[in-house]
Amino acid sequence: MSKRSIDELHLEITERSNWQPFYENRERACPIFVLAPDENLDEWVRAGALEGQRALDIGCGNARNAIYLARQGFAVDAVDQSASAVKWAREEVGKAGVAVAVHCTSIFDRELRAGTYDFAYDSGCFHHIPPHQRTRYVHLVSSALKPGGAFGLVCFTPEGGNNFPDDEVYERGSLGWGLGYDEERLRHLWGAEFDILVFRRMRNQPEGAKLFGKDFLWTMLARRK
Ligand SMILES: C[S@@+](CC[C@H](N)C(=O)[O-])C[C@H]1O[C@@H](n2cnc3c(N)ncnc32)[C@H](O)[C@@H]1O
Repeated sequence: MSKRSIDELHLEITERSNWQPFYENRERACPIFVLAPDENLDEWVRAGALEGQRALDIGCGNARNAIYLARQGFAVDAVDQSASAVKWAREEVGKAGVAVAVHCTSIFDRELRAGTYDFAYDSGCFHHIPPHQRTRYVHLVSSALKPGGAFGLVCFTPEGGNNFPDDEVYERGSLGWGLGYDEERLRHLWGAEFDILVFRRMRNQPEGAKLFGKDFLWTMLARRK
């Protein structure tokens, strides 16, 4: 096995194991440890930009966005690799009494039937995807969608995330708290398989608001080509 593939494997394993303790402590002072859905998601729903019946939430955390989507009438598959996140998500889904199936697995290990979903959402997962899996991830999302299906992304800006060059990620064996991306890079990566419809910063929301928003994150709405 080459040095690079050992490093890639090491990074994948470390990233995966980091999420277990992260969601075990629900008292952690973490902006996303709320039940409010993303403000951009709510805006797209209100604008009638999300149609169809089946949605996929990738890296769902405590399912705050999956539950919101189910309340809008979507049948949602929510996927997270962290057992502690999934435990929390299942509790919230149970309390809400909505149609969300929560699956505990890495998205790369889940059998996703091609052309299944009308909408796929990723709020804060992509910036934790290791560099060597990026292109595979874009393709995985695209092929899980029906042709013309919509994809929503929330991702760190350069100010919000770590700005290690890709090689340094492997030297450190860590993505830090997640990688920051500039607009051009995101447009280039996702534009290969998607038409980008909306690209803007998330809008800050006050503490305790009904919606979640932090302006160190990008929001993007795209359509599968
Ligand atoms: C920053 S959290 C965001 C959680 C949630 N979307 C939210 O906004 O509240 C990122 C989540 O992605 C999950 N994750 C990271 N890589 C993943 C992968 N390959 N497959 C599934 N989940 C993954 C982590 O376990 C974590 O729960």
